[in-house]
Amino acid sequence: MVAQSTATGEGWSSRSAFILAAIGAAVGLGNIWRFPTLAGESGGGAFVIFYIACVFLLGLPLVLSEIFIGKAGQTDAVGSIRKVAQDSNVSEGWGIFGGIGAIAAFLILSFYSVVAGWVLYYVGVFGMDLIQAIGAGDPFRGALMGESQEMIQGRMGDLFANPGLLLAMHLAFMGLTLFIVARGVHSGIEKAATILMPMFFVLLVGITIYGAVVGDLTDTLAFLFTPDWSKLTPTVMNAALGQALFSLSLGVAGLITYGSYIKGSEGLGGTSAMIAVADTGVALLAGMMIFPVVFAVGLDPAAGPTLVFQSLPFAFQSMPAGSLIGFLFFVLILVAAVTSSISLLEVPTAWGIGELGWKRSMSATVFGVGAFVVGIACLLGYNVWSDVRILSFWPLFAETDILDTIDGFTGKVMLPLGALLTSLFVGWRVDRRMVQKVTGLSGGWFALWRFLIAWLCPIAVTIILVTGLFPSILG
Ligand code: PHE
Repeated sequence: MVAQSTATGEGWSSRSAFILAAIGAAVGLGNIWRFPTLAGESGGGAFVIFYIACVFLLGLPLVLSEIFIGKAGQTDAVGSIRKVAQDSNVSEGWGIFGGIGAIAAFLILSFYSVVAGWVLYYVGVFGMDLIQAIGAGDPFRGALMGESQEMIQGRMGDLFANPGLLLAMHLAFMGLTLFIVARGVHSGIEKAATILMPMFFVLLVGITIYGAVVGDLTDTLAFLFTPDWSKLTPTVMNAALGQALFSLSLGVAGLITYGSYIKGSEGLGGTSAMIAVADTGVALLAGMMIFPVVFAVGLDPAAGPTLVFQSLPFAFQSMPAGSLIGFLFFVLILVAAVTSSISLLEVPTAWGIGELGWKRSMSATVFGVGAFVVGIACLLGYNVWSDVRILSFWPLFAETDILDTIDGFTGKVMLPLGALLTSLFVGWRVDRRMVQKVTGLSGGWFALWRFLIAWLCPIAVTIILVTGLFPSILG
């Protein structure tokens, strides 16, 4: 490990600690909730194949670029971009996209915690069911026995109609996130990732094998991997690109921030590839875990955002050991969500430390509490404020509730904008020798990366941005 010079003086204790934390940041609700939802709604195969292309052609070069900026800058996102700009003799005004990223991370955190709160609620529901099953001497029975399909699926509506319960779950999840981030990079974030990520992978592999054995794997594989190209409409492509950015945590300066804690001199190509492969692998495994169960019970794969929260709990009723597996399944999502939410909070927290000179505990508290408050508006949007449309003047958001509006605005506007500015900055403005030195890329790999970041990314991301903002162009 090399001497350090971050504003915070903090750093990862090893290369593998960084990789685990970065994979933890990437793997989250995006993989296990959003990806299967989108794949189901978009008709499967063609979406999945196009998504994989987006990850490797656009996402991976951006992952490398963000980590590069952080590693070269060694401080919060805005400061790191400024430093790289300075060293390349270009305007420090580029620092602005670090600021946009920090705001996006803050906004995503606000609703992410609310959705993670739903997961927490289901951990409770299945946990209590499992305790009852064990009490009844039948720990391997199906879940929620004796409840009708309406009752099980109605739970989500009941939860949404109950602001107090939503608030309690949101508070618990945000509290945990804040607690970890306030403890710092080494004893908070790194420790959480090194404990939770191995646990996550064991659960993921275990439940996927279970799904393959008891569920309908043949239908699932056909659904996920047989492309029907007529389903690849511009809207679906747009969704796939947006999902690739979200899932890899791109455009919010998260990987810049995590990259700034790298102290060694290792190359970044292999590390970036590992993050992209792991994130995509988890999304695909999540699909192979969820759809066999959904198909086995004859449910609709295109159920939308409620797929995981309504369809699956019902499916677990008729599955062997459904109570136990259901419980483990929601624990798995919760674990994934925590290692992502801490990365979201870390971005503005590092900014407060690096740019405002705040202490870590103060910075984390200010932004954690702030995101908690914005999150309250999101959860009230499901009940008392269900008529509120915060961007009502914008046709794209005229019909969406508060949570979906913030999700849509960050995903369709802020992430693509952050990614576009990153690719223009790194692809066109930054000194090439610095990139080669810091990333360790050379020869053909460097040329390939440069082509993708300087040409393909800006063009493709501009298309997402424009078509996302003005869907009418797509007809
Ligand atoms: N990548 C995370 C997920 O898939 C979400 C996230 C986005 C986390 C941006 C950090 C930054 O759930």
